[in-house]
Amino acid sequence: MSHQDSQWWRDAVIYQVYPRSYADADGDGVGDIAGIRAHLGHLADLGVDAIWMSPWYPSPMADAGYDVADFRDIDPAFGTLAEAEALVEEAHAAGIRMIVDIVPNHISSEHPWFKAALASPDAPERDYFWFRPGRGPNGDEMPTDWVGEFGGTTWTRVPDGQWYLHLFTPEQPDLNWDHPDVRAEFESILRFWFDRGVDGIRIDSAALLLKDESLPEVRDGEPHPFHDLDGVHDVYRAWRRVADEYGGDRALIGEVWMPEVERFANYLRPDELHAAFNFDFLGCAWDPALMRECVDRTLHAHKAIGAPATWVLSNHDVTRHVTRYGRQDTTFSFDNNLDGTPVDLELGTRRARAAALLSLSLPGATYIYQGEELGLWENENIPPEQYQDPMWGRRGHSRDGCRVPLPWTGDTEPFGFTTGSPWLPQPAEWKDRTVQAQTGDPSSMLELYRSAIARRRTEEGLHQPAMSWIDAGENVLAYTRGDRFACVVNMSGAPIALPDHESLLLASGPLDGDRLPPDTAVWLRLL
Ligand code: NOJ
Repeated sequence: MSHQDSQWWRDAVIYQVYPRSYADADGDGVGDIAGIRAHLGHLADLGVDAIWMSPWYPSPMADAGYDVADFRDIDPAFGTLAEAEALVEEAHAAGIRMIVDIVPNHISSEHPWFKAALASPDAPERDYFWFRPGRGPNGDEMPTDWVGEFGGTTWTRVPDGQWYLHLFTPEQPDLNWDHPDVRAEFESILRFWFDRGVDGIRIDSAALLLKDESLPEVRDGEPHPFHDLDGVHDVYRAWRRVADEYGGDRALIGEVWMPEVERFANYLRPDELHAAFNFDFLGCAWDPALMRECVDRTLHAHKAIGAPATWVLSNHDVTRHVTRYGRQDTTFSFDNNLDGTPVDLELGTRRARAAALLSLSLPGATYIYQGEELGLWENENIPPEQYQDPMWGRRGHSRDGCRVPLPWTGDTEPFGFTTGSPWLPQPAEWKDRTVQAQTGDPSSMLELYRSAIARRRTEEGLHQPAMSWIDAGENVLAYTRGDRFACVVNMSGAPIALPDHESLLLASGPLDGDRLPPDTAVWLRLL
């Protein structure tokens, strides 16, 4: 967990910065690099090891920057390349590594390649994409009936009659990863950022790159035409070789949504990615048996290939976990988003506090999505006309509720985020959730995260590679790391006695005498 550690990604605490919503320095209501630099101290105080920066490249923002028009520059709304380089240096000086987000499955329809491809049916750039004739006598039926990742169709017709594939929005044409120029271009983009000192790459939609060129329909029991094709592993082997040219301390971290753990683990073989997000854990219900199974499944799958597990509770795509854990149904999935169902925020917060101690004490790396350390909840009260997320029009669910600008100071909106008007509205109740309001309050979420991350650095047991379950009663998750550290999470409905211990290191909430109340966790020093 130190900057010198060459395998830092194995147990780092990695903080996701969503640049539109972290801090705005120029008053236009949208966060920017100058704002991040001005508030880098927050991340140093929190004690994180690395920042994962969501896309900051020039983009028409059809999908909040996941539609990249130029991977070698910065969008003017966020600043300049020189500012990005300065941020990397300043983060390093503060002992914080930097991970940038690369989106290889698709690019923006404003990218020069796609513009050239549209210019003529014979343009060589057409081969960089999936242009195909349509079906039916006039070619006016889409080449396939594939359903997009945001819902809806996946092909758009161009004036000369051909169709192009986009698994997301029409403004995000899919690249053809069978083309050597596409592969060479992305290896060059990796080098561009590694040459600027970045320590890692987060890989967007990592399992989607390859497609079955015979374009079969999606059918149960048959190989999927665009998800997790075997050939994708060659791409990541080549990327690993590029990363390894930089001395072995640059990490590749995949966004791999995959229910089958064995297939998921394939991405983490020793010559492929270093780590991948644990969405199994993120989607798991607040339920002791299911959580325990998920932890076991995760550790088992990763151990088999020597890869580090990751623990993820939230990100910019999913309902914030304070909200999820305050609902009757505490799972998350895009197909069952539970928008608008009743939420007990007090319960959700209590569980989120316990989940912080859980996720920060399991073996592996922990990811924190900005605002999680402030206990922010999903803003479910954004007027739909203010939604910017393209998923809203296609799936009837907007991810904007988890992307609301951070509250820093003061009692009223915009809570120090901007001198202008924030791009999405902040709940008035966040006056109690600002960094300012929570700093120095030992009962705050922020101080809990600060204490836990600081303890994680110094606690010998938390540097041990393994954990062992111990029995602390029914519906209780309890485990040791090393000989003298234990974490106990009470997921039962009643207070429980703590296992014998020498001292209490940290508690997610007040104890009930010497008993651990429901939905509360502790870190213990064992005898
Ligand atoms: C995954 C990203 O996390 C999400 O925000 C984006 O919309 C899709 N990939 C498409 O790039």
